[in-house]
Amino acid sequence: MLVPKPLVAGAIVLWITASALPLPAQESAVAPRAGPTAISTRDMVVSVSRPASEIGSQVLNQGGNAVDAAVATAFGLAVAWPEAGNIGGGGFMLIVRAGEEPVFIDYRETAPAAATREMFADGKPPSQYKLVGVPGTVRGLALAHEKFGRLPWDKLIAPAIALAEHGVIVNDALAGSLNGALAKSPDFPELRRVYAPPEGRDKWQAGDKLVQPQLAVTLRLIAIEGPDAFYLGRIAEQIVVEMQRGGGLITKEDLAGYQPLERRPIHGTYRGYDIYAPSPPSSGGICLVEMLNIVEGFDLRKHPRWSSRTVHVMTEAMKRAYADRARYLGDSDFVRIPPQLTTKEYASDLAKTISLAKTTPSEQLAPEIKLAKESEQTTHFSVIDRGGMAVSNTYTLEQSFGAKIVVRGAGFLLNNEMGDFNPQPGITTRDGQIGTAANEVRPKKRMLSSMCPTIVCRDGEPVLVTGSPGGRTIINTVFNVLVNRLEYEQPLEEAVDGLRHHHQWFPDRISLEGSRIKRHPNLVRELEALGHTVTTRYARQGDAHSIARDPRTKRLEGVADPRIDGWAVGN
Ligand code: DON
Repeated sequence: MLVPKPLVAGAIVLWITASALPLPAQESAVAPRAGPTAISTRDMVVSVSRPASEIGSQVLNQGGNAVDAAVATAFGLAVAWPEAGNIGGGGFMLIVRAGEEPVFIDYRETAPAAATREMFADGKPPSQYKLVGVPGTVRGLALAHEKFGRLPWDKLIAPAIALAEHGVIVNDALAGSLNGALAKSPDFPELRRVYAPPEGRDKWQAGDKLVQPQLAVTLRLIAIEGPDAFYLGRIAEQIVVEMQRGGGLITKEDLAGYQPLERRPIHGTYRGYDIYAPSPPSSGGICLVEMLNIVEGFDLRKHPRWSSRTVHVMTEAMKRAYADRARYLGDSDFVRIPPQLTTKEYASDLAKTISLAKTTPSEQLAPEIKLAKESEQTTHFSVIDRGGMAVSNTYTLEQSFGAKIVVRGAGFLLNNEMGDFNPQPGITTRDGQIGTAANEVRPKKRMLSSMCPTIVCRDGEPVLVTGSPGGRTIINTVFNVLVNRLEYEQPLEEAVDGLRHHHQWFPDRISLEGSRIKRHPNLVRELEALGHTVTTRYARQGDAHSIARDPRTKRLEGVADPRIDGWAVGN
C-alpha cells in the first residue's frame, strides 16, 4: 500500500455465515427471505448489491451449489458494482464442504515479469498503468468452477451478460459510487465515457439505468470460449494494447502465464470453533489467528464488549499481529514465513508482554525495523447452499475503480494492485508505509493482501461466513465480528453493526468508527488514560456482509452490513 488507507469501505462483500448460537425467537417470526437481513432454512447469498445477490440466489434455486452461486455472483458484481466487482482484478475464495478439507483458491494478481524491486522507490506517485497487476479473477473463478461447480460455466455468466446488456437499476449507493469516480477521474476519458450519466445530466441518481454493452460482449466471450478468451484470446490482445498505450508492463506472456493456486487455508481455533482464513499472499489468516490466540487467554467476556479493557486488550493484540505482518509477511512462494506465528505458544508469549494498565508503544514492538521520517474498494460476498457448502469470497481492484483504466473496446476496469507491494525498500514510516523485505516487488510475485474471507466451523459444519473490504482494516473488521459473535455470543445483526476498532501498528493510534462512537460515551477518554492515541475521524470501517448458520436447525441468517446498501437473499 502506498498510503495508509481510509477506513470507509467501498468494496464488494458477499458472505454466507452460519451460527451455532441460538437466535432470538421474535427475529425469526418476522424475518423476510430477502432484504438487508434475511432468514432461510435452505440457502443464502449476501453481497453489497441486490441484483448480484439475486443472481447467486437464482443459481442456487436452479440446482447450483455454493461455488456455482459464488461464480455467478462474482460476475454479477463485475457488472453491478464496478468500483470493486471485477474481472480485471483478483481475490481469494475460501470453500468449506461437509466432511472435506477446506480449500483456499488464491487468484491474487501477480507482478508482471518486467517489474523490479526499485520501480516505485523514488517515492513519486506512479503512473496508474505501472500499478496494474496481472489479473487473476477470471482464471480463479474458472478454477473454482472446474473443481467444485455443478452447473455449466456459460450458464453462470449468462445473468451477468443480461444485466450488462439490459442495464443495472442504480440505487443510492451505486449512484454515489459512480459520481465519486467521475469526480475524481478527470484524466481517464474511457472511464468517463463508459460510466457517463444519462444523456443531458452531469450526475447519476437512484432509478437511472447503467447499461454496459462492451462489457456484455467481453463477458459473452468468456462464457463461450472460457477463461482463455481473457488470457490468450481477444481480451488478452485488448489488455496488451491498452498497456502499450499508457506505458504499462503487462505483456501477452504475463497474461498467458497467469495461474491461480489452490492452497491450504490458515487454520486456527477459538473456544472450540475452527477458524479458516486465507494463507499468504494474504496476511489475513495469520494475523486473524494470531490476534484470536492472544485474546483467548484474557477472558474478554468478564468485561463488557465495548469496555476500555476489552478494546485495549484487542488493540494490543492488533499491534503485535500487525508488527509481525510488517516483519514477516509476503508471498510465501518467495519468502519464508515462520510457522510459529499461528501457534498458541507464540500467542501466549506475546500475551505476557501486554500490560492491562498501559499501551505498549508501537516502536517497542519491532525495534529492528528502522523507521524513516516522515481507499478502499474491495468487495466481499458469502454463500451457503442447502448441502451446507459455504463460500467466502473477497475480491478487489485495490482502490475504488482500480487504476481507473477501462480497457478500450472491452468495457472493464483494471486493478492497481501493485500498490500493495512495499513501495520503497527499507523505508518504513510512522504514518504506515512499510518497507520491509518480505513484500518487496519481484517479477511474478503476488503482492501482500489483507483480504480475509473467513469461515468459522463447529464440529466440521460452517456456523459463520464473513469478510469485508477496507484495506488493512479488513483483518480487524473480521476480528471484531468474530469476537462479537464467538466470545460475546451476540446476535448476528448486532455483531455486524457494532462499533469497530482498528490499530495497524503504525500509525500508533486506535481508530474508532465516528458513526458509532456516540454509543460509547466514555470509551475515548478511558483509552486515552491507558496511553492510547485515538481517532474517530473515519465514519465507517468495512462492510461485513455475513451469514450465520445454526447446525442443529439448519437455519440461515443473512445480514448485509447496515454501513452500506447490501442485500441478503434466501430461497
Ligand atoms: O488486498 C488488499 O488488502 C487490498 N488491495 C484491499 C483493498 C481494499 O480493501 C479497498 N477497499 N475497500
